[in-house]
Amino acid sequence: MKKILITGGAGFIGSHVVRLFVNKYTDYHIFNLDVLTYAGNLENIKDIEKKPNYTFLKADINNANEIDTLFDTHQFDDVIHLAAESHVDRSITDPLAFIQTNVLGTVNLLNSAKRIWKNNLSSHLFYHVSTDEVYGSLHDGGYFLETTPYDPQSPYSASKAASDHFVRAYYNTYKIPVVVSNCSNNYGQNQFPEKLIPLFINNILNKKPLPVYGKGENVRDWLYVVDHARAIDVVFHKGKVGETYNIGGFNEWKNLDLIKVLCKVMDQKLNRTQGESEKLITYVTDRAGHDLRYAIDANKIMKELGWEPSLQFEEGLNITVDWYLNNKNWLENVTSGAYLKYYDEQYSVN
Ligand code: NAD
Ligand code: TYD
Repeated sequence: MKKILITGGAGFIGSHVVRLFVNKYTDYHIFNLDVLTYAGNLENIKDIEKKPNYTFLKADINNANEIDTLFDTHQFDDVIHLAAESHVDRSITDPLAFIQTNVLGTVNLLNSAKRIWKNNLSSHLFYHVSTDEVYGSLHDGGYFLETTPYDPQSPYSASKAASDHFVRAYYNTYKIPVVVSNCSNNYGQNQFPEKLIPLFINNILNKKPLPVYGKGENVRDWLYVVDHARAIDVVFHKGKVGETYNIGGFNEWKNLDLIKVLCKVMDQKLNRTQGESEKLITYVTDRAGHDLRYAIDANKIMKELGWEPSLQFEEGLNITVDWYLNNKNWLENVTSGAYLKYYDEQYSVN
C-alpha cells in the first residue's frame, strides 16, 4: 500500500486534496500532517476521518526532529506538500512566520525525505504545491508561463518563491524526484474568511462593511478549489519529474466586478432587495505593495496532462455561497476568538 504524506490537509485546499485521495485511491494510505493553526480545522475533513486508509498526524513542519521521527515511523513513499502560511495581509504584519513555515518547514520535509529515500530515490516523489504569486505582478497584459522569471513582491510570495527554489535545488543537487505546481487564486467551501470571497460572504451575511482595497481594480484569476484538487491528482500521477505546471481557470476578474456579482448572488439567496449588499462596499487604504494583476496560462497542464477546469465561475460561486449559507456554524466557529482580534487589527487601521 502506497503511503502518501499530505501536509496542510486540515486547511482549505489541503482538505479537498485529502478527501479526493482518500475516497478515490482506497489502495493508498493517506497521512494528513497538520499542526492546526488558525487556518487548520479538522471539521473540514470530518466526513473521511474514520476511513481505514486515513490517518491524521498533528505535527509542526517547523520541528525537524518531529518530522524526522514521523518519516522513520511511517516510511512515507511520497509527499504532497501544502502546509503553509497563506495570507498576504498576515505576511505583511508578520513576515518571519512565513519564512519559518514556508521556507524552513519545506526544507525540513525535504531533508527528511532525502534521508529516508536515499537508497531508491527514483520510486518516490516530492510534490510541492505553490502559487502564481511567485511570478510577481502583471502590468502590461500577458500571462504567467512556467518559464516566467520569478519576481515575488510580498513577503508571502517571496517565502513561497524561496520554497520553490529549495525544492528545485534538492532535485538538482540530491536528485530527489520533485514536481511543482503554481496555481491561481482558489475559492470554494472551507476557505477561511480572511480571504476575499469568504470574508465578503461573511460580512454581507452580517451586514458589515465590505473593505475594498484601493479602487478595487486589481485583477485575480479564480479557480474552484475542487478543480485545483483534481489538478493536483493529475500532476501527482502524470506529471513529469523535475517539471513545473501552472494551474488556472482562464477566469480573470477585477475585484470590484467580482464583488458586485457576489453582492447580487447574496441578495438573491438572502431574499434581500437587489442593491442592498452593494451599499456595504467601503473603499479602504490599499494593501501595501498590492500586486495589480495575476493571470495564469494553464495550457501546459491542459495539453500535456489532459486536465481542465470542470466548473464555470458563476456555477462555482453559487455552490460556494450555498455552502457558506448552509454552514453558518462553521463560519461562527472560525470567526470567534483569535479571528476577531485579527479582524480588528487588520481593518481598524483603515
Ligand atoms: P490554508 O491557510 O487554508 O491552510 C494551510 C494549512 O497548513 C492549515 O491547515 C494549517 O494548519 C497548516 N499549517 C500551517 N503551518 C503549519 C506548520 N508549521 N506545520 C504543519 N501544518 C501547518 O492554506 P490554503 O489556501 O489551503 O493553501 C494551501 C497551499 O496552497 C499553500 O501552500 C498555498 O501557498 C498554496 N496555494 C494557495 C492558493 C489559494 O488561493 N489559497 C493558491 C495557490 C496556491
Ligand atoms: P486575497 O483573497 O487576500 O488573495 P491574494 O491577495 O492572495 O490574491 O485577495 C484577493 C484580492 O482581493 C486582492 O487583490 C486583495 C483584495 N482584497 C480586498 O480588496 N479586500 C480585502 O479585505 C481582502 C482580504 C482582499
